[in-house]
Amino acid sequence: MSYWTWDSSLSVGINIIDEQHQRIVSYLNELDIAYLEGDNDKVTHILMGLVDYTISHFAFEENLMAQSGYPLSDPHKMVHKVFVAHINNYKKQHESGRDITKKLMSELQIWLTNHIKKEDRDYVPYVNKFLNKKKGWINKTIGLFFR
Ligand SMILES: [Fe+2]
Ligand SMILES: [Fe+2]
Repeated sequence: MSYWTWDSSLSVGINIIDEQHQRIVSYLNELDIAYLEGDNDKVTHILMGLVDYTISHFAFEENLMAQSGYPLSDPHKMVHKVFVAHINNYKKQHESGRDITKKLMSELQIWLTNHIKKEDRDYVPYVNKFLNKKKGWINKTIGLFFR
C-alpha cells in the first residue's frame, strides 16, 4: 500500500500545479519504499531529489503568483521560505547519519496538505486569470525552474 494516495480533495484545479503536488506525493511514496527496503543509498538519493523538487515547485509557484498580481505573494513566499529552512535542516541531519526519514515524511505530508488547502487554493483565481490571458507562459517558463 502506498504511503500517501493523492485524491481530489488536494486538487487546486490548475493542472500544472496539481501535477507538481502529485510529484511530491509520489516522491514520498518512493521514499517510503526505499526506507522499508533499508536501502540507505536509495533513501539518500530520493530524499535529495524530493527536497530539490519541492524547492523548485515553490520557486515556480512564487513566480507564477507574482506574475499574476496575487496580492498575498510575499507572505506566501515567506511561508515557503520557513518550510524550506525546516526541510533543509532535515536534509543536513540525514547527511550526518541521523534517521529522520519518517519524521520528514509525516511532517511534509501534513504541511503540504494544509498548505495546498489554504495558501495554495487562495491564489487560484488570480493565477487562472493570468494563465488564460498568457497562453504558452508555462511552456516558456517551466524549464527555468525544473532540471
Ligand atoms: Fe505554496
Ligand atoms: Fe504548492
